[in-house]
Amino acid sequence: MISMTGVVRQNYWGLTNMAKIKSKWVCQKCGYEAPGYLGKCPECSSWGSFVEEAEVVSKVQPQHENKTFFENDIQKINDISLDETFRFSTGMEEFDRVLGGGLVEGSLVLLAGDPGIGKSTLVLQACAYLSSNGTDVLYVSAEESTRQLKSRAKRLNINAEKLSVLSQTNAEEIKNAIVQTKAKVVVIDSIQAIYSPNITSSAGSVSQVREACNSFMEIAKTTGTTIIVIGHVTKDGTIAGPRVLEHMVDAVLQFEGDKYKLFRMLRAVKNRFGSTNEVGIFNMKDNGLEEVQNPSELFLEGLQNNMASGSVVIVTNEGTRPLLVELQALTGFTSYPAPRRVATGIEYNRVLQIIAVLERRVGLNLSKQDVYVSVVGGMEINEPAADLGIALAIATCLRNVTIEPSTVIMGEIGLSGEIRPINQLDARIREAAKMGFKKAIVPKSSMSSKAPTGIEIIEVSKLTEAITKAIG
Ligand code: TYD
Ligand code: MG
Repeated sequence: MISMTGVVRQNYWGLTNMAKIKSKWVCQKCGYEAPGYLGKCPECSSWGSFVEEAEVVSKVQPQHENKTFFENDIQKINDISLDETFRFSTGMEEFDRVLGGGLVEGSLVLLAGDPGIGKSTLVLQACAYLSSNGTDVLYVSAEESTRQLKSRAKRLNINAEKLSVLSQTNAEEIKNAIVQTKAKVVVIDSIQAIYSPNITSSAGSVSQVREACNSFMEIAKTTGTTIIVIGHVTKDGTIAGPRVLEHMVDAVLQFEGDKYKLFRMLRAVKNRFGSTNEVGIFNMKDNGLEEVQNPSELFLEGLQNNMASGSVVIVTNEGTRPLLVELQALTGFTSYPAPRRVATGIEYNRVLQIIAVLERRVGLNLSKQDVYVSVVGGMEINEPAADLGIALAIATCLRNVTIEPSTVIMGEIGLSGEIRPINQLDARIREAAKMGFKKAIVPKSSMSSKAPTGIEIIEVSKLTEAITKAIG
C-alpha cells in the first residue's frame, strides 16, 4: 500500500496514500512511543528498552465523497443477523471451549506462549481436523521450512489433503497468498518472524509486529478468513511480545505449562466471543497433544490414601469447570535471621496474610518457622477460595497431624479469622463427590442446593473451627 520510496498506491478503500518517513523511539516491551531516546520507559518502567524505528506518516486523500462512503456502511442494529458469527470446531473440545465454542469466521486469534511449549503442534492438529472436514487451510510458516513442518505432521500422523503450506516472511506476499488461495482458515507461525516491506525496522520489533498484525486483521475482516497468529512470549525485551497486540486482536489465548512437565494449559486472556475464564488442559505425548478430559484425575495422580501432614486437596474453579488440586505445605525451624516464606503456584502475599491470621487468630507460632507452600502439578491458583486449604496445610504440618482422608477443603479467610463464602460451591462439591471424596469442609450457608449423596458437608464459620473439624 505505502512504499518506502514514496510511491503512491491504492489501498482497500480506494484511498491514495502519500508516504512521509519520520523517526521515533519505541519501547520494545510495552510499545510506548517517544520522539527521542529515553533511558527508562515512563509506561512500564523498563530500562534501555527504547529502539529507534522509522515511522511512515501517510496523508490520506479520499477519492469519494465522504457522504456516500459512510451511508453504505451504516446499518440498523436490528438488521444485523447473528448468523454472521459462524463458528466451526477445531476438533478438540478443550480448544473449542477456550475459544468460546469454536473458531469464529472472520476473526483473528492470537496464540501466545513460550517458545517450545507446543503452539505449532496444537495449531497443526487443529488444521488437520479442519482439513478432514473439508475446510481449506493455509499454514504460513515463517520460522520453519516446509520440510520441518512436514516432519512434524508426520510425527503427528497427519494426512491432510486440504492443508496447504507456505514458507514466507513477507507480510504483503502472505496477504496476496491469503486472497489467492481463498483459504477459510490461515495460520501465521509466528508473527515475530514476519516483516512488512512498508516499514524499515527489523522483523520482531514493535512497529513490525503491529503493522503485520494490523494488516492481517484487515484481511480477516474484509475477506471473512479466520486467522490464527502465533506469537512468542519472551523475557528478552528486544523481541516485541504479544502484549502490544492484545488490544488489536479478537482473542488472545495463552498456552502455558512447564516445559519439563507433560501437561499444558490453554487460557483465554481476552475473548470477544466468549468468556475469559476457561482453561483447556492437554497432555504432550510423543505423537502430539492429547486432550485431558478429566483434569482432576491428572492433578491428583500419586495422591496417597493416607495423606502426609501438610497435604490437602482443594477444589479450585477454572472458568466454568471445577478442578481438584493438591496443595502442600512444609514448615521447619529456621536457620535464617528472618524465616523464609516460599510460595509456588500461589500468590506470595496471600500466603503471608494467611500466616499472619494463623498466628494472631489461631495462636500458632510461626515466627521461627520457615514456611513453604506449593501447588502439586505446576498449576497456578489465584482465587481466594484456596485460602482455607493453604491455612490447613500449614497448620497440619506444624502440628504434625494429618487431615482425615478423602476430605476436600475450600473457603476464603478474612483477617479476623472468619471463613467467607465462595462462588460456585455446588459445582465444586459435585466434582469432589464425582472424584470419590467423602467430606467437604466449606463456608457456612453458601450452598444453594442439596449436596449430592455420598459426600458429607461440614460447614464452618471460623478458622479455629475448621482446623478442629479437619483433624477430627
Ligand atoms: P512446538 O509445537 O514446536 O512448540 P512451539 O511452536 O510452541 O515453539 O513443540 C515443541 C516441543 O514439543 C518440542 O520440544 C517437542 C515436543 N513435541 C512432543 O513432545 N510431541 C510431539 O508430537 C511434537 C510434535 C512435539
Ligand atoms: Mg513453533
